[in-house]
Amino acid sequence: MSKATAVANPNIAFVKYWGKSDVTLNLPANPSLSMNLAALTTITTVEFRPGLRVDAVTIDDRPAIGESFDRVVAHLDRARSLAGIATRACVVSRSDFPAGTGLASSSSAFAALSLAATRAAGLDLDEGALSRLARLGSGSACRSVPAGFSLWEGDRHETSFARQVAGRGHWDLVDAVAIVAYEHKKIGSHHGHGLASTSPLQEARLAAVPGWLKAVLRGIRERDLATIGLCVEADALAMHGVMMTSVPSLLYWTPATISVLRAVRAWQEEGLGVYFTLDAGPNVHCLCESADARLIEKRLRNLAGVQDVLVSGAGDGVRPMAYHLF
Ligand code: DP6
Repeated sequence: MSKATAVANPNIAFVKYWGKSDVTLNLPANPSLSMNLAALTTITTVEFRPGLRVDAVTIDDRPAIGESFDRVVAHLDRARSLAGIATRACVVSRSDFPAGTGLASSSSAFAALSLAATRAAGLDLDEGALSRLARLGSGSACRSVPAGFSLWEGDRHETSFARQVAGRGHWDLVDAVAIVAYEHKKIGSHHGHGLASTSPLQEARLAAVPGWLKAVLRGIRERDLATIGLCVEADALAMHGVMMTSVPSLLYWTPATISVLRAVRAWQEEGLGVYFTLDAGPNVHCLCESADARLIEKRLRNLAGVQDVLVSGAGDGVRPMAYHLF
């Protein structure tokens, strides 16, 4: 086969990956845990074409240039080297949600690219190998490979990949994402990781992660939102504390971000089961059970500064598609 298409969902981390122990291999400073988001997708078609002199990459209907082009080509090179081929490829990728706003677009993008590129190159990698490959493209992408809820741990290239801890049907947890900004952020997570070690708070965060991870794993197993909620909020705030105190400082929040965080806290005081987390951006992910999702969505939409709300349950892992984008 020389042409293949794959679809992947981005994931939201409950325990964050922030900081790397190896920049080239994308080995993380700490283990992380996430849920795939069923309602958001990236679809990618890869075709290896003999005779093509350079790779051609289109992302969201525009030719990829600069760093995004280089990252895709580097990833195609990894697939080519695994397959022992040198043929250049034509890549078309489309996401149905905004990139660069803290919605982890690189996670679904590199998961889909990994499966499409390896299948198009004639390879059939198992889930662990595919997750390991996706990690080399973007760390968080390794967690979009297994379905449902996944844990990424391991401290060497061979052992560092994501494994499923619960399937998507295990728990009808919902992420209602309050979109407060659409602009592309100036410093994305890919570059932000390198600043983590400049913060005096990173060491303290890393020391706290094992406790949060243990509690969140138990919370998922027992479908106990209150247990995971407190840890998820604490880790997101700790990560943003690290970001804010890095040199240079990364401040992703806007006034609307803080309004949403305060509203969530007020709803908790009323007894509602809703907890927040944020990635490297101003948008706020609100976790709740599906029974409360409509109410939370309605309340979020009524807050000043909230431009849209995306609501998603747990998603599948990366998978092949019969339909191609070109
Ligand atoms: C804040 O996976 O985007 O979303 O490995 O350099 O591509 P690279 O970074 P990336 O970092 C994601 C950071 C985060 C937290 C998380 O998803 O765990």
